[in-house]
Amino acid sequence: MTMTVDHAPATTRPGPPRLDRTQLRQAQQDTLDTPRMKYSLLAKMMFKPVDLMYGKEGSYTKFAMLEIIARVPYQAWERMGYWAVHRHRGRSALARRVFERIVEARADQDNEQWHLLIMQDLVQRAGHKQSLLPHRAAPWLIAFFYYHVSWVLFLVRPDWSYRLNAEFEDHAEHEYMTFVADNPDLDFVPDPGTYAAEYGRYRSVADLLRQIGHDERTHKLDSLEAMREPRVR
Ligand SMILES: [Fe+2]
Ligand SMILES: [Fe+2]
Repeated sequence: MTMTVDHAPATTRPGPPRLDRTQLRQAQQDTLDTPRMKYSLLAKMMFKPVDLMYGKEGSYTKFAMLEIIARVPYQAWERMGYWAVHRHRGRSALARRVFERIVEARADQDNEQWHLLIMQDLVQRAGHKQSLLPHRAAPWLIAFFYYHVSWVLFLVRPDWSYRLNAEFEDHAEHEYMTFVADNPDLDFVPDPGTYAAEYGRYRSVADLLRQIGHDERTHKLDSLEAMREPRVR
């Protein structure tokens, strides 16, 4: 992956690479050309209620909901990581590797937090109303479920926890890229740039969403790689 940037650079931060316009279009094509992963029952248990409440089609409100849930496994891993660092305190190499994982989990959490803020901003600009049950209570319930599933899985079988997150990220990646492909007018809607200082400014809302979609792809690939690593916990 290349690190070229042709728009206003944001503050240097760890996390997924920023892509230029050509790379963003290519990233969209790559996602659309890649079949979705085979989702497990647990993953479907989270996707189904979201589809029922917000519809199968993508929308800013649906994405905001997904972003609330997306941070959860990274929070769970971060917390479990601190416990593991303490456990391995006598074995410096392992403790260091666990701590590196914590740093990665924090960077990914921050990245998901920007996605959420950007989505909430787009929801407000579009003038969509958010009501209590579908927009506050439901995400909280699903996030609560996902958080506990994530840390229990991580304790028992870390690779299952990473696999579940990879499925979640794969789903998000495809949702964003399909939405952009289905709404070509978004290429003519300028990026409002509300969080440009932190996330960069893009030529259009379409490019902004493509960048977020590519971040999800990066998260997915990181989780798939973590799955193959020897147990670090
Ligand atoms: Fe995200
Ligand atoms: Fe993500």
